[in-house]
Amino acid sequence: MSVDIRPLSTAHAGELVTVQRAAYLAEARRYAAWDLPPLVETLRQVEDHIASGQPALGAFDGHRLVGSVRGNVDGDRMEVARLFVAPDQQGRGIGRRLLDAAAGATPSGVDVLWLFTGARSEENLRLYESAGFVRVGERVDGLGITLVTLERKVI
Ligand SMILES: CC(C)(COP(=O)(O)OP(=O)(O)OC[C@H]1O[C@@H](n2cnc3c(N)ncnc32)[C@H](O)[C@@H]1OP(=O)(O)O)[C@@H](O)C(=O)NCCC(=O)NCCS
Repeated sequence: MSVDIRPLSTAHAGELVTVQRAAYLAEARRYAAWDLPPLVETLRQVEDHIASGQPALGAFDGHRLVGSVRGNVDGDRMEVARLFVAPDQQGRGIGRRLLDAAAGATPSGVDVLWLFTGARSEENLRLYESAGFVRVGERVDGLGITLVTLERKVI
């Protein structure tokens, strides 16, 4: 398998919405929460995010989009958001590569990367902790899901 990671353009937004929804369905089932933000994000919102120039990367197997990660920069911090891999491609190292690529795509001036995931999403927590993120807090979101926030320095 050869998967390339490269910046997304707005032309990819439709495929991204489709694959993102397929990937996050497992999290929706885990929490019995069908309105998770990645599942209700609209095509227009994805187009606007990509057009805004915030970091937005896709993992491509040929022409097929098999995963993605996006960043939200705020001052000297960047949220690593919407990390997903197509269900049939998971467990092959693509998610880890996307996480590394997001760190590598951090704009200058950003010192800290942060992200959150569900407290019961043990595989996700393992991935983030093995990439150097440490737990810094917990909160309950509007859907009643306990979320763990993690962060790390940009190296
Ligand atoms: C989380 C996700 C992006 C990981 O991508 P992936 O390509 O499957 O992950 P990798 O193959 O790079 O594996 C790296 C680590 O991810 C973790 N992991 C998370 N979900 C996994 C899955 N479904 N299958 C295998 N590993 C998974 C494991 O801890 C693994 O570490 P290990 O090799 O030491 O066991 C992917 O499973 C996914 O899209 N999940 C649904 C959406 C989601 O939960 N996104 C994160 C939101 S916070």
